[in-house]
Amino acid sequence: MDYEAELQTAQGAIMAAADLDALEALRLAYLGKAGSISALLKTLGAMSPDERQTTGPRIHALREGVAGALASRKAALEGAALEARLAAEEVDLTLPAPASQRGSIHPVSQVMEELAEIFADLGFAVATGPEIEDGWHNFTALNMPESHPARAMHDTFYFAERTETGEELLLRTHTSPVQIRAMQATGGTQPLRIIAPGRVYRSDSDATHTPMFHQVEGLVIGEGIHLGHLKWTLETFLRAFFERDDIVLRLRPSYFPFTEPSVEVDVGYASTGGRRVVGGNGDDAGHGWMELLGSGMVNRRVLTAGGYDPDRWQGFAFGLGVDRLAMLKYGMDDLR
Ligand code: DAH
Repeated sequence: MDYEAELQTAQGAIMAAADLDALEALRLAYLGKAGSISALLKTLGAMSPDERQTTGPRIHALREGVAGALASRKAALEGAALEARLAAEEVDLTLPAPASQRGSIHPVSQVMEELAEIFADLGFAVATGPEIEDGWHNFTALNMPESHPARAMHDTFYFAERTETGEELLLRTHTSPVQIRAMQATGGTQPLRIIAPGRVYRSDSDATHTPMFHQVEGLVIGEGIHLGHLKWTLETFLRAFFERDDIVLRLRPSYFPFTEPSVEVDVGYASTGGRRVVGGNGDDAGHGWMELLGSGMVNRRVLTAGGYDPDRWQGFAFGLGVDRLAMLKYGMDDLR
């Protein structure tokens, strides 16, 4: 057999392969399991040692030559394919870039930041507590013992599990438990001035209620604290928040288990074109009063639960809905 001629024929066929598929077909025809060169290699086993000595290197040379031709043709075809793609895929750098979507801060987050800033100017620190709370912090320490009707009114989400000490576990229904945690943290020895913004949960859902909503709690503890301090603090805060000097508040007697006395705070507003704009005396013509928040002097029992001596320390507290505040300030009428 003329291995030289065989190699030249194979090289010619390989160089003529038009694409990678054709080249692969040739590779199989020569070097594949059933390929012609593979068949030649198999004949070596049946040869005499002498014959193998002369024929073996020729078959191997044929195989090497074909493999080399296949590799160089493959590289050439791939290079050509890349060239073709580069020529076809043109990048036009003069096209305008697609506009990117810019996010913005959620109104509720923004209002919570504004609140923290305003109260920071009044000397309040930000305090936090867990959203998964126990019954003692959320209710009992706030003067709502197991049998208290207000406890049932809170539409609470309970967990099946209890704490290690057997307390019920729940999603906090208000930010008031942070009052207790902040008091406990000082050991009852220092004045306190904190706000606690955060998420709270109740099993309630419609246009003005969502199962998760936001509150800000406020707590001031000191010696000689009275309702006048509460009213001044809220007026000063609301003037800064609504950016108006004509904020008028009305304190109405109310009831909360954790404050005594308790007051509900209304703010005067003007009705303009069906919209309520905060400001002015609610008793004036074209005006009205809108309930804004709950507050009062911290109940002696709550001071005691927090570790403070109620004969020495007094405090005021307030709690307000951030979502409503955001709706009022930015003129939105659906909580969702
Ligand atoms: N925790 C009350 C609620 O969720 C709001 C509240 C009322 C908080 C009076 C207070 C307060 O701190 O003094 O309805």
